[in-house]
Amino acid sequence: MPKNDDFQKWASSRIAREARRDADAPNFGADSREAHALTASERKLVETFPTRGVPGARLRAVLGDLLDRHVANGRSPRFQNQLFSGVEDPAMAGALLGLFTNNTMSTREIAPLPTEMERAVIGWMLRSLPWDRGRAGGSATPGGSFSNFLAVYLARKAAEARHGADVIPKLAYFVSRAGHYSIPKGADFVGLPRGAMVEVATDESDRMRPDLLAKAIADARGRGLVPFLVIATLGTTVAGVLDPVEEIARVTSAENVWLHVDGAWGCFGLLGPDAARFRAGMDRVDSLTFDEHKHGGAPVASSFLLVRDRTSLEELRPPTGGGYLFHKKEAPHEESDLGLTSLSCGKPFITLSSWLAWKSLGAAGWRRRVATSARLTKRFRDAIARSKRWELALEPDTWLVCFRPKVPAVTSRVARDVVSRELRRRINADGRWMLNLCPMPAGYVFRAVFTNPLMTNAHVDELLRHLETCAGAD
Ligand SMILES: Cc1ncc(COP(=O)(O)O)c(C=O)c1O
Repeated sequence: MPKNDDFQKWASSRIAREARRDADAPNFGADSREAHALTASERKLVETFPTRGVPGARLRAVLGDLLDRHVANGRSPRFQNQLFSGVEDPAMAGALLGLFTNNTMSTREIAPLPTEMERAVIGWMLRSLPWDRGRAGGSATPGGSFSNFLAVYLARKAAEARHGADVIPKLAYFVSRAGHYSIPKGADFVGLPRGAMVEVATDESDRMRPDLLAKAIADARGRGLVPFLVIATLGTTVAGVLDPVEEIARVTSAENVWLHVDGAWGCFGLLGPDAARFRAGMDRVDSLTFDEHKHGGAPVASSFLLVRDRTSLEELRPPTGGGYLFHKKEAPHEESDLGLTSLSCGKPFITLSSWLAWKSLGAAGWRRRVATSARLTKRFRDAIARSKRWELALEPDTWLVCFRPKVPAVTSRVARDVVSRELRRRINADGRWMLNLCPMPAGYVFRAVFTNPLMTNAHVDELLRHLETCAGAD
């Protein structure tokens, strides 16, 4: 009897059809209000658990419609809500095929090729860093937050090894006000007290101030705390700026504390024409978050934590158990079992996504891709700088631009924020574009990102026209 694979055939043809349209696809297939509100019958359809299964053909028809209208298309260049936007064609193909194998990366025995591919991708990433590749290593994680959690965990374990387990209530870590929220969440996750976080002030460009970091560490020591970790961000979430890693590394080396760099957004700069700027100070960094699904164009979510000393990952070995899986005695490959030094037990084979993208782009392709993002960013930045209705909130440092409406000088911050919120409503109303409004110390800013592989000058110009129309609609 032939296998019933109607759903898989349906999904494949939908994927092929949609992928062909992505460059011109709106963010939502409906206007914003319709996209966000499900009708009563749609809600019923979503929520009701049927006594008897719904026939496949009917389910496919209604589901197709729901997906079209109520899910933002994060592949579209018009999707600007987050830092990820768009996928590399080989990366998406790799992710789909990797999932289709239904494999897991726990042991080399069941995943010989996936294991080698994860090692290869980590090796390629490490080439961009001034680390001893014989000592360095890494682990694939399900997203930038997880890579950050893992870094905080490894740093905590290193502190425990040095100072003893009693040190935990006294530990202090340092991150700028612009650090990603996954850092304090990770600290909480690994059992640090809430008071362990020390926020370091930023300069006028929102970069961490190394002088204030040194002072904060000294103050913490004065209060009897044990500084153990500093997190610098290579490409902050809102402003996209690079913390001064080189100067921060001087402080952390002198203080002998773990330096983690959250490069979730900025890491691909290491592969671009301007790599030296991203590499500065990296020789003294202990760990680096390297997201594939942001500038790397892998589907959400795919990340790696890279470590300068791979023995630190040994802390992830299960303290007990796991014998059903890791056959230390019988299997010849036990030391290659990625599951032993991974956060997860079952881990899908999504590394095929990165492997295929890196292999098909090569060093030259990544360089070109980063250069294109920089060129599109500049095009947008220059137009905003010339605009009568909009102004730059900050000079861009990577591949995003923070901007805001021009308002009379006397306007208060609160009044400007009201204008910005209304403008966001107008910009996103027809569902074609989706821009985000982000809080900064001086008020809300709009953020446009330019890393979508499908984005062209025409998209940038369309966005600029749209912004001018929305701001001039009064
Ligand atoms: C700097 C930075 N780190 C970490 C993250 C979290 O990444 P993820 O969404 O993959 O968990 C983000 C997300 O935007 C980010 O901007």
